[in-house]
Amino acid sequence: MKAAVLREQNTPLEIEEVQVSKPGPREVLVRPVAAGVCHSDLHFLDGSYPYMLPTILGHESAGIVEEVGSDVTYVSKGDHVITCLSAFCGHCDKCLTGHLALCQSPEVSREADQEPRLHQNSQPIHQFLNLSSFAELMLIHEHALVKVRKDMPMDRAALIGCSTTTGVGAVFHTAKVEPGSKVAVIGCGGVGLAAINGAAIAGAGQIIAVDMVDSKLEIAKALGATHTVNASSGNVVGEIIEMTQGGCDYTFEAIGLKATAEQSFQMLGAGGTATVIGMIPVGTMVELHGVDFLAEKKIQGSNMGSNRFRIDMPRFIEFYLAGKLHLDEMISKHIKLEEVNDALEALKSGKEARHIIMFDS
Ligand SMILES: NC(=O)c1ccc[n+]([C@@H]2O[C@H](COP(=O)([O-])OP(=O)(O)OC[C@H]3O[C@@H](n4cnc5c(N)ncnc54)[C@H](O)[C@@H]3O)[C@@H](O)[C@H]2O)c1
Ligand SMILES: [Zn+2]
Ligand SMILES: [Zn+2]
Repeated sequence: MKAAVLREQNTPLEIEEVQVSKPGPREVLVRPVAAGVCHSDLHFLDGSYPYMLPTILGHESAGIVEEVGSDVTYVSKGDHVITCLSAFCGHCDKCLTGHLALCQSPEVSREADQEPRLHQNSQPIHQFLNLSSFAELMLIHEHALVKVRKDMPMDRAALIGCSTTTGVGAVFHTAKVEPGSKVAVIGCGGVGLAAINGAAIAGAGQIIAVDMVDSKLEIAKALGATHTVNASSGNVVGEIIEMTQGGCDYTFEAIGLKATAEQSFQMLGAGGTATVIGMIPVGTMVELHGVDFLAEKKIQGSNMGSNRFRIDMPRFIEFYLAGKLHLDEMISKHIKLEEVNDALEALKSGKEARHIIMFDS
């Protein structure tokens, strides 16, 4: 099969022939139809998050089951699925206390002495975040996918695989935004726009979208933002404190920068909660004013929207089909696998929303 291989950080992905193993008892071979290009892929490409190389990036996809392992009963050939990097074991303390997105069990991967899922002429290719979706086939654990209805368009379904689940989930599950509350979202890429849409579904009163690109702020309005702030103007925190008459109840950082993570805390009102979704480069410290803790301001992280994706993703599809979740506006462009490097490059400017790779059927 063809795959986009990352051999060295900060070099373009190479389209190469790669071999995929046969499904083990609890594995599923999926033929992806669509795969989104997320900013997290770029963080691993540019080395702000180290990863074992060579690898095949990509972690936001939807596809069709091609073959199942001997013990798999949940799906069969021909089923439509969305994949999720939050593969869960189902029996560790994180899973059993309802925190499936935090499961770190190694059993969803193959062991070191087994044939690797992906290889090239007997040399292993490391699977990326249990998935590796910039490839014509994906061999994944059965707990890394959810079965979905067949009338859901695959390119929209792919978005649910990461950005929707991360952004909407951060609002619903991590922060638990209340109806009527004042919300700000910093960064209006795939993830931030999903958080804005999620805040609208949750019934937030004020939803302030922050970005440096006006066209992104326009999309944010279409998805439910009540106010917008172009961050290039300088005093973002001051403007938002004024707009909300004292600060936000909930803020979401969806970029991955020290400065904007600090801003997300600074723009809270008393009792407010900042949720950092963006991947801040490894080794970077985030600084807060200690006195703010007396006003019961809180800051927390969010991993993949604290998801229970087998429950959440089918619900998000129902929201989309009911016209509440706006996925059409999130897609800037459909591309071929060979154009993946252009899509990664485009993420650097922030000017476009999601690029979706469509695989040849
Ligand atoms: N926590 C998780 O589980 C998780 C999951 C997926 C993605 N992420 C992370 O979320 C972040 C966003 O991902 P994405 O795919 O939406 O990215 P993206 O590149 O599509 O969007 C980022 C947006 O931020 C804007 N921006 C950049 N600098 C800014 C600034 N200083 N002020 C205001 N706006 C600014 C850009 O214009 C762009 O619209 C990334 O760090 C990604 O790695 C985290
Ligand atoms: Zn992602
Ligand atoms: Zn587990």
